[in-house]
Amino acid sequence: MSEISQIDSRLLQERPQHIAIIMDGNGRWARRRGLPRPAGHREGVKAVRGIVEACRNQGIGALTLFAFSSENWRRPRTEVRLLMDLFINTLKREVRDLHANNVQVSFIGDRSAFSDKLRRLMDESESLTADNDGLRLAIAVNYGGRWDIVEAARRLAAEARDGDLDPSEIDEENFSACLSLAQLPEPDLFIRTGGEQRISNFLLWQLAYTELYFTETLWPDFDAQCLSEALEWFAGRQRRFGHTGEQVERLKGA
Ligand code: IPE
Ligand code: IPE
Ligand code: MG
Repeated sequence: MSEISQIDSRLLQERPQHIAIIMDGNGRWARRRGLPRPAGHREGVKAVRGIVEACRNQGIGALTLFAFSSENWRRPRTEVRLLMDLFINTLKREVRDLHANNVQVSFIGDRSAFSDKLRRLMDESESLTADNDGLRLAIAVNYGGRWDIVEAARRLAAEARDGDLDPSEIDEENFSACLSLAQLPEPDLFIRTGGEQRISNFLLWQLAYTELYFTETLWPDFDAQCLSEALEWFAGRQRRFGHTGEQVERLKGA
């Protein structure tokens, strides 16, 4: 079909190459059990482990997890401290296993707010796993979609100031190359657990054509079976990228 020949294979893809997840609902999971919020966050870590494994088993290429947003600093200081400690301890404990399982780990977000210790740990985890070619796991910490876009604008502005780029040359391609996750295909499937139907400043640019899946299931309860349901739902979507349904059907039949 010549009219769709420019559109990439995403039209025909029944499985997502890249899944992005807002892991929401830890606090409510704990409250429903009469437990303090930290218990929900700890249980949430177990769910992360399960979903990373499930993605590996399902042959998913990339997984981006929203672990801490640039707005989460507004939480009580004790909760922020707990989340940071949990993050450090989990990373320390899990990175060898991830490496052994050929997972490539990276982090997106503004690291400048973190302690030296945490930054070092993040750098070390990235270097250790950099050459792995299994699941590519990106963890968004102190990440905000608006921050990401502003950072890209800042980089391009600096290039223009230095005479390396004419502003008229700025386009979607070189702009997106400056954003987080530029090395990955854009997410095909977005999942938000916990029932809220909002983006909460996650990947604003990158989600432009992503299929959005919302589930009431709270993050600590989100398991391999829940992931399979989301994948099944995804397989039933018709992605059109602006084309008509008939055009897409013709392409699929070709
Ligand atoms: C998501 O769960 C974890 C983080 C944002 C770090 P929440 O802590 O937001 O859980 P709820 O929304 O209060 O239930
Ligand atoms: C989004 O969840 C951020 C993460 C899951 C890390 P929140 O629970 O912070 O989102 P809002 O504030 O309810 O939108
Ligand atoms: Mg929440």
